[in-house]
Amino acid sequence: MATGFSLTKIPGVRFLQTKSRTRGWPYIASWAHRISGVMLILYVLLHILTLSALKNPDDFDNKIKFYASILPVFLEWLLAVPVIYHALNGGRLILYEIFGNRQDNLILQWLPGISATYMLLLGIFMVMGNQAVSAILFWTYIAAASVFISYLTVMKIRHSGASKLWKMQRISAAFLFLMIPAHMLYMHLDPSIGRDSSVIIARMNNNFIKLIDLMLLISVLYHGAYGIIEISRDYVSSHRVQAACTATIMLIVAFFVWIGMKLTVLI
Ligand code: HEM
Ligand code: HEM
Repeated sequence: MATGFSLTKIPGVRFLQTKSRTRGWPYIASWAHRISGVMLILYVLLHILTLSALKNPDDFDNKIKFYASILPVFLEWLLAVPVIYHALNGGRLILYEIFGNRQDNLILQWLPGISATYMLLLGIFMVMGNQAVSAILFWTYIAAASVFISYLTVMKIRHSGASKLWKMQRISAAFLFLMIPAHMLYMHLDPSIGRDSSVIIARMNNNFIKLIDLMLLISVLYHGAYGIIEISRDYVSSHRVQAACTATIMLIVAFFVWIGMKLTVLI
């Protein structure tokens, strides 16, 4: 009797197989994009609240100790799954919609391999935990590349008939494409880089780093808010309820922009 391990025994694999046959991989990819986007916005709001404790360094260190006591490092590594998936799949959508790439299936096939490479690299750095790099040098390269990608995107869509708000969402996505995966990688080069209040505050006291953080904060929250508003439109048909949802999302996000900006500017 065959007792070998079959992939279909893993929860969800059989479901994915059936859906990919009946609906196709692009359908699954877009659902996964939506789920990862919602996970990221929830994470970012919690992240900004945690960071706001930096105004009282002992309070921040206690919060980090508390998270470390309930969440294994493994889960922190797993957070990179929605991060890298959403970034690469978002990049694929931008290439398709804006740059006219029609080899979409080829990119879909590359996606798992590139994601696995990123996860492996991040895991190696997390285990080694002894890397040193100048924050200014690291962020000069990443920000310059991100501004360049955003510029190419602006040039490509500026004359399209789409709404300004939609264009800004895609431009913010292009900007975040490298910034977010790089942010996660950078914060794990050494445990103190992303967790030790004195190291974080010393870095954030630099005006260039403040500028990078502000650009990250505003682009992430604009992009995420637009995404959530679009999702809510798919589920709410009444115009009144829709307007109320949009206003509530905007208010919540404006509150978090305020907390994040106050922290970054005043620290
Ligand atoms: C890492 C770089 C990122 C890239 C390249 C990217 C790209 C994209 C793109 C192209 C879309 C449009 C998808 C569509 O309309 O079909 C999108 C949607 C979305 N993004 Fe991102 N994104 C990134 C980061 C983030 C972050 C950090 C968040 C959370 C704060 C986020 C939240 C969302 C949400 C909620 C949606 C709406 C999903 C939907 O309508 O199904 N994204 N993203
Ligand atoms: C577990 C992994 C992460 C760690 C340890 C971490 C750590 C940090 C730290 C220490 C800062 C303060 C700024 C600085 O040091 O330059 C920061 C800022 C920020 N992070 Fe993360 N981060 C992580 C993941 C993420 C992810 C996945 C996102 C987005 C999806 C994100 C979005 C942001 C934003 C928007 C800011 C700017 C906040 C502000 O200016 O108020 N982070 N992060």
